Amino acid sequence: MRRCRCDHTPAWGALRALYDTQGRDFDLRQAFSADVRRFECFSLQAPHVFADLSKNLINVAVQDQLLELAHQCGVQAHRDAMFRGDVINTTEQRRVMHFLLRYPATGLADAAQGATKNLTKELGQVHATLSVMLTYADMVRHDEGITDIVNIGIGGSDLGPQMAVLALDEFVAQNKRFHFVSSVDGHELSQVLRQVQPESTLFLIASKSFTTLETMTNARSAKAWFEAKGGRDIARHFCALTSNVEAAREFGIGTTFDFWDWVGGRYSMWSAIGLPIAIAIGPERFREMLAGAHAMDEHFRNEPLERNLPVRLALLDVWYRNFHGFGSRSVAPYHSGLRRMQAYLQQLEMESNGKRVDEEGQALPYATSPVIWGEPAANGQHAYFQMLHQGSDVIPVEFIAVKKVSHSLPEHHHKLLANALAQSRALMLGQQDAGGHRHLPGNRPSTFLLLDELTPASLGAIIALQEHRVFVTGSLWGINSFDQWGVELGKVLAKDMEQRLDSGNADGLDASSAGLLKKLRAK
Ligand code: F6P
Repeated sequence: MRRCRCDHTPAWGALRALYDTQGRDFDLRQAFSADVRRFECFSLQAPHVFADLSKNLINVAVQDQLLELAHQCGVQAHRDAMFRGDVINTTEQRRVMHFLLRYPATGLADAAQGATKNLTKELGQVHATLSVMLTYADMVRHDEGITDIVNIGIGGSDLGPQMAVLALDEFVAQNKRFHFVSSVDGHELSQVLRQVQPESTLFLIASKSFTTLETMTNARSAKAWFEAKGGRDIARHFCALTSNVEAAREFGIGTTFDFWDWVGGRYSMWSAIGLPIAIAIGPERFREMLAGAHAMDEHFRNEPLERNLPVRLALLDVWYRNFHGFGSRSVAPYHSGLRRMQAYLQQLEMESNGKRVDEEGQALPYATSPVIWGEPAANGQHAYFQMLHQGSDVIPVEFIAVKKVSHSLPEHHHKLLANALAQSRALMLGQQDAGGHRHLPGNRPSTFLLLDELTPASLGAIIALQEHRVFVTGSLWGINSFDQWGVELGKVLAKDMEQRLDSGNADGLDASSAGLLKKLRAK
């Protein structure tokens, strides 16, 4: 498979020239008045997600050249290699196949000829595990004796399930409460343990590796609490979601659901890691979520690049990061159910593409992952939106709005949508006729993603959209988006520090760490 780093393509130089002549001084207001069809030209319908890209700093020439960049980098070949099950995570020698977790069972027959023809064995395993897991989820759902589900996991073993359970609240079983414990900060676990009883609680220990310090510490403390409170039936009250079943058994958990090394942690909410979601919304809805994601997979796999939404978003990301030099992107969901979306996207994007070397280990001469940040935007408007409108940095904003909602306060939703539209318009228009402190420069770019409704299917689709967008930016940047070596050093040093906190030994430490150690140990 031939991949070509973005800066080694002729398109890169052409984009540099375009930026100098048409990019730097591009004005959105002029672009809209010069082209009455700009909205139609720069908007796109993908499965479950409508995207208005017209308020971005691009014209047709830039867009065409960005698409040319994608062709020259070999994005399609790279994408096809992923879907074929090639080892594209080269630093860990792994395949990258989270898409297979949402490939329908009916696909098993056509898979024999189709796109997944060499993956029928894995697809069979996926569906065998999925049906056992969903049967278990349904059993727990109908078990009146279990009132509280406590998911203990961190990173990809926390963020996806937590985000989805909040987002799909409307579909969540009303007879259960869901708790998510991730940090090793004891406040988190003790706060949850204060609210639950051993006889009515199910602990899900979610860890791909089953070695993560935070998760194992919380799991041990939860088990100790359970036993100290007289709990005996570990099989009924503890379940492990892991690809290291042996370690889970050694820990004393016999009820396990496994997944495979080709599922990256931050891509794992579709696997056994999604069990809390399945318990919350039920097997049928969980399958709908998978189907929504699959529809986006097919869109990504089959649509030509110019009509391919993940590709179009990724190209904008590269245009902003590497030509305009924008360092961050603000995610602005106008739906309180999406309040953990930005945390989820932070891991997805920043752990995947926060890299400074290419696949061969060569230092990159350009910037990669932007900082992803945000809050439910109705609140953000009264906090940091000031900076978006008048700050010294230009920060592209990604609005996410939902057309229909389930609550019975239509006036609220009307106002909420009006605010989303108003903010994207205000960012673009600015306030030209006011001077001094009241002047808003405008011309600030935004993308508007619109869902008809927030359902399992549309949530699945928008998450798969983001996964593929991250894939494409990583592909253009020539990096391996599927490893995370940067997080390892901190883990090693934390082990060393734990011993030093016990012993007080500061030998070999820098003066700052030694000084802080001393302060923390002082009586
Ligand atoms: O430390 C980073 C990381 O490895 C993430 O990639 C992962 O999602 C998280 O830790 C949790 O890992 P595990 O599921 O193995 O406990």
